[in-house]
Amino acid sequence: MTAFHYRDGVLHADDVPLDRIAAAHGTPCWVYSASALERRWQEFAAAFAGVDALVCYALKANSNQAVIRTLARLGAGADIVSAGELARARAAGVPAHRIVFAGVGKTEDEMAAALDAGVLQFNVESEPELRSLSRVAVAKGKVAPVALRVNPDVDAQTHAKITTGKSENKFGIEIERARDVARIARGLPGISLDAVAVHIGSQLTAVDPFRAAFARLVELVGTLAADGIRLKRLDLGGGLGVAYNPQLNQQPDLAAYADAVRAAAKAAGLPVVLEPGRWMVADAGVLLARVIRVKDGLAKRFVIVDAAMNELIRPTLYEAFHAVLPVVKHGHVPHGTFDVVGPICESGDVLALGRELPVMAEGELVALRHAGAYGAVMSSTYNARPLAPEIMVRGADVAVVRPRQTVEELIALDRLPSWLDDSAR
Ligand code: LLP
Repeated sequence: MTAFHYRDGVLHADDVPLDRIAAAHGTPCWVYSASALERRWQEFAAAFAGVDALVCYALKANSNQAVIRTLARLGAGADIVSAGELARARAAGVPAHRIVFAGVGKTEDEMAAALDAGVLQFNVESEPELRSLSRVAVAKGKVAPVALRVNPDVDAQTHAKITTGKSENKFGIEIERARDVARIARGLPGISLDAVAVHIGSQLTAVDPFRAAFARLVELVGTLAADGIRLKRLDLGGGLGVAYNPQLNQQPDLAAYADAVRAAAKAAGLPVVLEPGRWMVADAGVLLARVIRVKDGLAKRFVIVDAAMNELIRPTLYEAFHAVLPVVKHGHVPHGTFDVVGPICESGDVLALGRELPVMAEGELVALRHAGAYGAVMSSTYNARPLAPEIMVRGADVAVVRPRQTVEELIALDRLPSWLDDSAR
């Protein structure tokens, strides 16, 4: 049973009807199921039984403290990309020795913070970054544990904006140069070369690109060994996708992915780090919205809801598909084809295009599925729309894990310069 399911015609999160959550907390709002998160974690962990793997949840997918802590309690480490995420991971109880620090533009301040925290590994993406890190580590009298993130020039077969492993992408060290950079790393003070890493993109639904990238990484391990460089681990990144559109049969094969990981670990004779983000959390969340009105245009019919691109930017940014479910199931009522859109003053403010839906009435509720990943974290306050609340459900329990921002709080973030501030006269 999935966490989001109909019971007596009403969509529930675990044991809680979503209309009750909307009544109590308003819309738009994010609803997460803690039990779904726990199940995702367990399913993932079970697939890697027998592999010496550290699973570092990629915080960028959803960094609410309650989400991180739910996973941390089950043994998750963290993949972070900023000092902010470092602080979030630590605050949620992830031990530093389970944190890997990735990202193409770490500042020296961020490097210093991560060195002070004692993270497991810095995933270094260029020679200049390596030299920066060496300087920062030496100044602190510390040694920075490093993984060289290589770019294997493998096509991930995903959306262009979330492809990272092609040579034209900004990520990683070209794999052909990795041997030289490894030699440089070995000679630099304050650097311990411990690992090599790849991450070729996100929302991958085929396993072949992973296999190809892992094979190139394993080959590199052999080359480095011949140079006398013995590594401690392999970091195989994240990227496993989820089935957003139930009609497309794009369910990624976790078992086949796990086999690819197992084969790479075995061939390299090394433990692995994995960095799943989306796979862990996407399915565990929905975005709940209320229908403001239905508008029949000349060419199209629109369902205008109170959630918008400032909450869920994925449809407009990546042409992403999120299934739209009516919270209260309709019986045999007329259906139509609708665009589900938000109130923001841009044509790009769409949540779902050309969907077959029951004809909705004002005030009805809809849930956008698979919104647990890259939803709330990518929100903005565009159009002076305060950040929507995040609610976590576990069984019959409901908790507000981030309250709705108020307009007053939003305004209070601004400051007037003295020449405009009447109260300062
Ligand atoms: N590791 C690294 C180095 C990454 O860059 C990423 C994601 C991950 C792990 C986690 O990837 P995942 O398992 O979640 O696919 N905002 C986009 C996705 C951006 C992904 C960026 N990097 C979206 O909404 O589709």
